[in-house]
Amino acid sequence: MKKFLELITDELKKAFDEAGFPSEKVVASVSNRPDLCEYQCNGAMALAKEAHKAPLDIAQAVVEVLKKNPVFEEADAVKPGFINLKVKGDFLTDYVNGMAENEKFGLEPAENPMMVMVDYGGANVAKPLHIGHLRAAIIGESIKRICKYVGHDTLGDVHLGDWGLQMGQVIAELKLRGMTDFTVSDLEEIYPTASKKCKTESETYDPAFAEEAHRITNELQYGNEEYRKIWEKILEVSKADLKKNYDNLEVFFELWKGESDVQPYIPDMIQKLKDDGLARESQGAWVIDVTEDSDKKELPPCIVVKSDGSSLYATTDLATLVEREKLYQPDYIIYVVDKRQSLHLEQVFRVSKKAGIVHEGEKLFHLGFGTMNGKDGQPYKTRSGGVMRLESLINEVNEAVLEKMKDNPDIDREEAEKTSKIIALAALKYGDLSNQATKDYIFDISRFIEFEGNTGPYILYTIVRIKSILNKAGVAPSGKVFFTGTKSEKDLMMELSRFNDVIETVYNELAPHKLCAYIYDLANAFNGFYHEVKILSEEDATKKDSYLGLLKLTKEVLEQCIDLLGFAAPERM
Ligand code: ARG
Repeated sequence: MKKFLELITDELKKAFDEAGFPSEKVVASVSNRPDLCEYQCNGAMALAKEAHKAPLDIAQAVVEVLKKNPVFEEADAVKPGFINLKVKGDFLTDYVNGMAENEKFGLEPAENPMMVMVDYGGANVAKPLHIGHLRAAIIGESIKRICKYVGHDTLGDVHLGDWGLQMGQVIAELKLRGMTDFTVSDLEEIYPTASKKCKTESETYDPAFAEEAHRITNELQYGNEEYRKIWEKILEVSKADLKKNYDNLEVFFELWKGESDVQPYIPDMIQKLKDDGLARESQGAWVIDVTEDSDKKELPPCIVVKSDGSSLYATTDLATLVEREKLYQPDYIIYVVDKRQSLHLEQVFRVSKKAGIVHEGEKLFHLGFGTMNGKDGQPYKTRSGGVMRLESLINEVNEAVLEKMKDNPDIDREEAEKTSKIIALAALKYGDLSNQATKDYIFDISRFIEFEGNTGPYILYTIVRIKSILNKAGVAPSGKVFFTGTKSEKDLMMELSRFNDVIETVYNELAPHKLCAYIYDLANAFNGFYHEVKILSEEDATKKDSYLGLLKLTKEVLEQCIDLLGFAAPERM
């Protein structure tokens, strides 16, 4: 379906033509003064110069034509040359009825479907999932769902950090303790202990241990059987736990690949970089220059081999692109990664293009996100000041919601526990996604779990309210909506009609926060309607059927939107 604003723009263009003015640049927009009009057009202002006429005269001439147009209820020319419009309710209901019959509520499928990969896990094996990885998971899952909904093929890759020095450190500690069997909880204690022993600035710094960890890492990478076995065990234990955590977040990866998977590609890739003359030697290391003429700041060269011959983060990311090209031929890869890694990714992108690792026209994009801070503006910590484990954080939110639900006498303990998890997830995800991804934001549980205001629970509450009305009505609405003349009914339909336009923007800009803003507006418009109109007690059966039809569509659109954000609504709350 065409976008609603396009339909209005078409009518405006016809009117400009008929009034004798050029119409190419004419567009309609949603009014920024809803007290005066619903839609507006500023086209007359832009034309004044070339038409040698006052903008108001142009606007008036166009309005004369518009007044005969059955699409508009009102058309006014106002100073200095705006055209203010109100559409006929029937024109809007035609559109809304079309949406209800359309599979994607009027959203046209992508013209050129692409293979889109989203790289959005980044958790590190042997380290517990902590909140630093929460944003990647929440934002990435939503981005992937949005790409899929607009019609692309999608693959989400967890891209585990399973090959770095942390592996050697953990193995060294396990050997020291003579441990062959261990659980995630063991690893959770072992990793920080081992890691501290390797840090020069730490109290427990142990140079001999640090060297041993280095040696083990190296031997592991060169295929030592013994270390390989321990490494596999760590991976197994760790992955199972990560998977459980991601499942609880309703974050699902199609690919459970890790940095280790791409090691086999590295030797050939490095050889080729050298043969092609792209990599040059620098103090024993191999580097690739990535500066471009248009750079404002100088970009340091990308190091692909360290002076001791080992590979680094950039090497692994490049080899990952080699593998992705070989196995999946993606057209577009979106990296949902902390924005502090932007230099690293920019270097990787540039090398991969220069070296022809990615194919012509392939898009690589870093969606960099900001930090999740506590109310004090500092990175979110536990009460004792440590790094917050994701599991504890989720439990904290669950508890807070459960506490709130205790007030509802209709819901027993068992249902409350189930429902509070659903609400908590919505609170957590909406609290994150409603902020522009690139910005830091304040993680404020008590605000996120409010049932009123711009929160996840408010959106869920709105959906639950609609479900309850539809249930009480007893009969399914016919689905045909007509305009009964109420202002709030029209406001609701106007919000609904924006759906395809919003989704397109959200996809183009990879901006889930704009989807949140939309559903907040839509939920408010619904609640305005709900408070103004008596729905269930309406005596006129056709009117009531139309109201219920509008509710059904509102519910479906809201449910679709929250699914794109990565959560769902309960039956009751
Ligand atoms: N494991 C990395 C970290 O914890 C994040 C990985 C992001 N993805 C990537 N392809 N570099 O910092």
